[in-house]
Amino acid sequence: MATETLQDLAAEARGCTRCPLYKPATQTVFGEGPRGAAIVFVGEQPGDQEDRQGRPFVGPAGRIFDQALAEAGIPRDRAYITNAVKHFKFTPRGKRRLHKRPNAFEIDRCKWWLDRELALIRPRLTVALGATAVRALTGRPLAIGETRGRIFDLAPDLPGLVTVHPSSLLRVPDPEAKRLAYAAFVKDLAVAADALTLTG
Ligand code: URA
Repeated sequence: MATETLQDLAAEARGCTRCPLYKPATQTVFGEGPRGAAIVFVGEQPGDQEDRQGRPFVGPAGRIFDQALAEAGIPRDRAYITNAVKHFKFTPRGKRRLHKRPNAFEIDRCKWWLDRELALIRPRLTVALGATAVRALTGRPLAIGETRGRIFDLAPDLPGLVTVHPSSLLRVPDPEAKRLAYAAFVKDLAVAADALTLTG
């Protein structure tokens, strides 16, 4: 539909029942950012905070992501930020809700939304944050360590870059290893920032 907007798409996604994840989740967490964004970031799925607030990357992973974006010189409000899967998948454990990785069926069902977001925005670069986003965007499970930080076509007409998921940085126990992992993440984002500058 030529007149479709991101707002239309988000409104439609609020009623999504394409996979069973909508049932226990609080709400659909759709992408956010301007339609004219030159860069799109794709995460895995909303976490506990995102599910409650209805916005992507607003919890602990979002905070480290924001910091890395700022260091790489990418203003968050000029990027479009979304997830491969738009509902929080979790296992209840007492009062807590423990994140559960989405499976291939859920990723494929939700690709319907991701494809439509990308078709409307037509970004110059798309960044896959972690394995689920890689699977969604490329259709295959690429090894992140071997592919990260360089620009290539994630799919036909979809230039982009692969890097780690920011939540992986939160899980590194050793402070020095954590510092290095964070620096490597910022370096990957800086490659994307540089590519956008170079291509206008
Ligand atoms: N992790 C994600 O992949 N996406 C979010 O929105 C938050 C945490």
